[in-house]
Amino acid sequence: MSVHQSNIKRVTTHILQEMKARGEKISMLTAYDFSMAKILDAAGIDILLVGDSASNVMAGNETTLPITLDQMIYHATSVIKAVKRAFVVVDIPFGSYQGNSSEALRSAIRIMKESGAHAVKLEGGREIKESVLRILSAGVPVMGHLGLTPQSIYKFGTYTVRAKEEEEAKRLLEDAKILEECGCFAIVLEKIPAKLGEQVAKSVNIPVIGIGAGGGVDGQVLVTHDLLGITKDFQPRFLRRYADLFNVMTEAVQGYIKDVKGKEFPNKKESY
Ligand code: KIV
Repeated sequence: MSVHQSNIKRVTTHILQEMKARGEKISMLTAYDFSMAKILDAAGIDILLVGDSASNVMAGNETTLPITLDQMIYHATSVIKAVKRAFVVVDIPFGSYQGNSSEALRSAIRIMKESGAHAVKLEGGREIKESVLRILSAGVPVMGHLGLTPQSIYKFGTYTVRAKEEEEAKRLLEDAKILEECGCFAIVLEKIPAKLGEQVAKSVNIPVIGIGAGGGVDGQVLVTHDLLGITKDFQPRFLRRYADLFNVMTEAVQGYIKDVKGKEFPNKKESY
């Protein structure tokens, strides 16, 4: 029986660990607001990620870099209010943890205290080890993020597949083990070869959740607006669209405009 079908009231890090151990795949999606989080939680999603992709999806920025800690806390607070079952993870945004473990701890504590979230996510491996350890020492669960790390986009220069070369793949595998040793409860792997994704998932005991990392990992994450087809132009190979809400919404709005212009809305029944 899956966690979704069972009586478990809330997903925890312990339950996620058990899911990996028994081979049940973990489902994870992004959420940035109350209404969407309510739908996703009621649908049975295991993990909701208040991703810094809110910078692109909600604020229209080209990268994830501009979003602030205050803005992430605002999104997380809205999501938490909607959630009854899912485990909620919040991205610590760019500039709020890199190179300064005291600041990392302060940022994590602000997120946990002000939003009521359940965990935080940080991008990077050995270079953020001190920050990860400091946050964990305060009792805050940490999710790692390796492979394509969008907060470092200007260092890499492109959004292409990462760790295709042996040396980078070896480093990524080592970083995953370092994050596990530190005490991270899970790791996201973004846009890496499927073979490497599977190798990482087999090499660590904590759940590995992939986005463009193939089917051999312990779970999958997508940006909800991509899955629902609200975003239109973003078409990476790893994305499967489960709906075409861009067109559904456009048609609905066009219908409304037509009715308003044609004086067909509101009718008598819709008036007081
Ligand atoms: O911010 C985000 O949405 C993410 C996912 C792509 C994993 O980090």
